[in-house]
Amino acid sequence: MKEVKIEKLDNQGRGICFVNNKITFVSNALPEEIVNIKLTKENKKYNEAIVTEYIKKSPSRVDSPCPYFSTCGGCRLLDLSYEDTLKYKRDKLKEIINKYAGFNKDIEVISSPNILNYRNKITFKIVDGKYGYYETSSHKLVEINNCLLASQAIQNFIKDINHLDIKNGELIIRSNYNDELLIWIKTEDDIKPDITYLKSNHKIAGIVLNDHPITGDSSFIEIINNLYFTVSYDSFFQINRDICSIIFNLINENITSTDTILDLYCGVGTLGINAAKNAKNVYGIEIVKNAVLNAITNAKINKKDNINYMLGDVGTCLPKIKDSVDTVIVDPPRAGLDNKTKETIINFKPSKIIYVSCDPITLARDLKELKEYYNIEIIKGLDMFPFTHHIETYCYLSKKEW
Ligand SMILES: C[S@@+](CC[C@H](N)C(=O)[O-])C[C@H]1O[C@@H](n2cnc3c(N)ncnc32)[C@H](O)[C@@H]1O
Repeated sequence: MKEVKIEKLDNQGRGICFVNNKITFVSNALPEEIVNIKLTKENKKYNEAIVTEYIKKSPSRVDSPCPYFSTCGGCRLLDLSYEDTLKYKRDKLKEIINKYAGFNKDIEVISSPNILNYRNKITFKIVDGKYGYYETSSHKLVEINNCLLASQAIQNFIKDINHLDIKNGELIIRSNYNDELLIWIKTEDDIKPDITYLKSNHKIAGIVLNDHPITGDSSFIEIINNLYFTVSYDSFFQINRDICSIIFNLINENITSTDTILDLYCGVGTLGINAAKNAKNVYGIEIVKNAVLNAITNAKINKKDNINYMLGDVGTCLPKIKDSVDTVIVDPPRAGLDNKTKETIINFKPSKIIYVSCDPITLARDLKELKEYYNIEIIKGLDMFPFTHHIETYCYLSKKEW
């Protein structure tokens, strides 16, 4: 056991201190706190530790409203005041974007209108009939029977998970604007869910077992800013509806009327459909088949006849587009843009690039390269994931003369 002072939070929301000059990451520890720690992992370059005693607590520390907080790996910052989590995200975003992309200005982080109950999707692990999230960096299950970050409809359903009769597997629960639930069970168990009970106690849009619906549909409808989106059980959809709505508004502020737009990594078509009303043509590219089928349906139900979708890898599909392009919207997974995709985008010479990112480090890496050809006009953080260490970022880039 060793007494240490926590210097700051790392990119994953863990406290940082030094033990014999070696960087040590401490869970559930805040800057300025003096704590006793126990090392849980000793690596050549770093240690990991847990707090055994708080000697001096931070004034920013609050009592976490979640009883599972100390062990559950679902979120890291529920013991910090919301204002301080925003400050942490502002500083972190500025530091990363400055360090890797050389952009040294203050960056605003837009707060989430809803700081609890904001998640419209959760993924539970189920082990020997017990369900919950894993502990941080482990495959040890923390059994829980509520998650305060989940929508109220999901929280209500969690209490009835045992009616699904799953012993081992994974469970993905989604809710929409109307508190309907879309349940996706991944298991090899021969299960007999009590569908009658579940339907009489919850608004079940559908339950999908592996890839087959066992009741209802395999998709439901979500509404953002009066646009309708069909979302299949295996399609991506933005986790926080309020922040998604803010992203739509930011995009509309930056897109003018005659644009031809590429919506790369388009999911069910959200960002492109939102932008389509101001556009001549939109091309969407997405690798998940059901998401592309959803996007085609979504263009129709929102009466957008100026959108074409391609199913496949962005890197492979993008060179097939022969139109001249004014605006490229990219919203890639955490890995960001690969070199070939960046090169192809630059070769289109679009006048604008809108980059929506869920990983500031890969975003900063990509901005460093795009900066040679594009001015960074706007960077805004968005608190898509309150009380976690994650942050969403919106960037608007304009073409330099070349
Ligand atoms: C962060 S999500 C964004 C989705 C969408 N823009 C939205 O706002 O809902 C990233 C999407 O990229 C898709 N994707 C991942 N790798 C891809 C690739 N190599 N080519 C095309 N799409 C990909 C994923 O299936 C997912 O739908």
